[in-house]
Amino acid sequence: MIVAGVMSGTSADGINVALVRIEEPHSPKTFSQRQPSRGRGRQRYTLIGHEEFPFPARVRHTILETMNAQTARVADLARLNFLLGELYAEAVAKTARKHRTKLDLVGCHGQTIYHQGEAAAFLGRKVAVTWQTGEAAIIAARLGVPVVSDFRPADMAAGGKGAPLVPFVDFLLFRDEGVGRIAQNIGGIANLTAIPAGANSRQVMAFDTGPGNMVMDALMQELYGRSYDRDGKVAASGKVIERVIAQFMRARFFRQRPPRTAGREEFGREYAASFLQLCGGARKQDIIATATALTAWSIADAIRRFVLPQHKSYRELIVSGGGTKNRTLMEMLRAELAPLNIQLRFSDEFGIPSEAKEAVAFAVLAYETWHRGPSNLPSATGARRAAILGKISYA
Ligand SMILES: Nc1ncnc2c1ncn2[C@@H]1O[C@H](COP(=O)(O)OP(=O)(O)O)[C@@H](O)[C@H]1O
Ligand SMILES: [Mg+2]
Repeated sequence: MIVAGVMSGTSADGINVALVRIEEPHSPKTFSQRQPSRGRGRQRYTLIGHEEFPFPARVRHTILETMNAQTARVADLARLNFLLGELYAEAVAKTARKHRTKLDLVGCHGQTIYHQGEAAAFLGRKVAVTWQTGEAAIIAARLGVPVVSDFRPADMAAGGKGAPLVPFVDFLLFRDEGVGRIAQNIGGIANLTAIPAGANSRQVMAFDTGPGNMVMDALMQELYGRSYDRDGKVAASGKVIERVIAQFMRARFFRQRPPRTAGREEFGREYAASFLQLCGGARKQDIIATATALTAWSIADAIRRFVLPQHKSYRELIVSGGGTKNRTLMEMLRAELAPLNIQLRFSDEFGIPSEAKEAVAFAVLAYETWHRGPSNLPSATGARRAAILGKISYA
């Protein structure tokens, strides 16, 4: 069956669509397969194509405003839900047309506008909550195929943090008998999935390492009026301010044991503002270099602190997400990993373009749901049990 996975992450930069052919092992046809797949049914996954659709500036702006709990208005939330449904449907339709593909199913993550994975007091109870928007009924109606959406609540209902969900797919794609691997995605937030050599799914560890591009992006906007540091050029021209790094390294978040999750709530506007403040009157490029170094350091630190002590087999870090396009960040990361004897690799080397991985993941998760298969990893989310994720909208 052919499944379109649709992702739009916390960076609110745009929509990623991946078309994935998923075959049962007994299928009479054969297709190229770059990675042997494992797991539930030993399916084969082939990426047919991937496309990216940047949000128009006004839409991006509105999404970011909507995520800001102080200013969001309920009518705008409702409107955004339906508008995003239309935009997702258009993005999928264009991708399918371009690759001359007929779809069977869509898996759409939606746009997270609020996520609080830990239970907190509210009206006399303790609740953990999450909210992804982008109306799936619209997508199903426009495309004429069923849509799986709203993946996170079922994991939370089972006691999990609702995140991260991609580790299930990392396990299927990257598990190796002989080499321990860490899959590291660098989106707005950075998160990793650690898969020891020869692991079963219960041995997989996954958690957010900290900021990905989010702090860099906010500072680029503030200091240069640009949405990000293209290819890491600004950071490359600056010098890391050690005093600032040392200060931010002490934050409680980095010491917190996994499972742990982060979002705009942790590394959003206020964080960027305090970063700027601590940098005092430093040169702009030095501030960007320092924010870049914080991302690289926090990834390596998480590996040192929580991953390596768990198992000795780790040799590779497989990176994906928009942050892989930041050359300065990649150089800093490579330098941090060298003393840990870990090699930096790109998901592209495994047949998955780095910007497509999360979209591929939601195609795979939708496929599982469609077949009534559970697809959270309790070891990653902290759930008490495996759960079938998502809701289905029929065309
Ligand atoms: N050429 C590039 N150079 C540097 N950074 C880039 C480049 N392309 C994308 N990025 C970074 O990647 C981010 C988007 O990454 P993505 O994986 O889509 O994150 P998310 O899942 O949060 O949407 C952008 O906001 C930007 O910071
Ligand atoms: Mg994105």
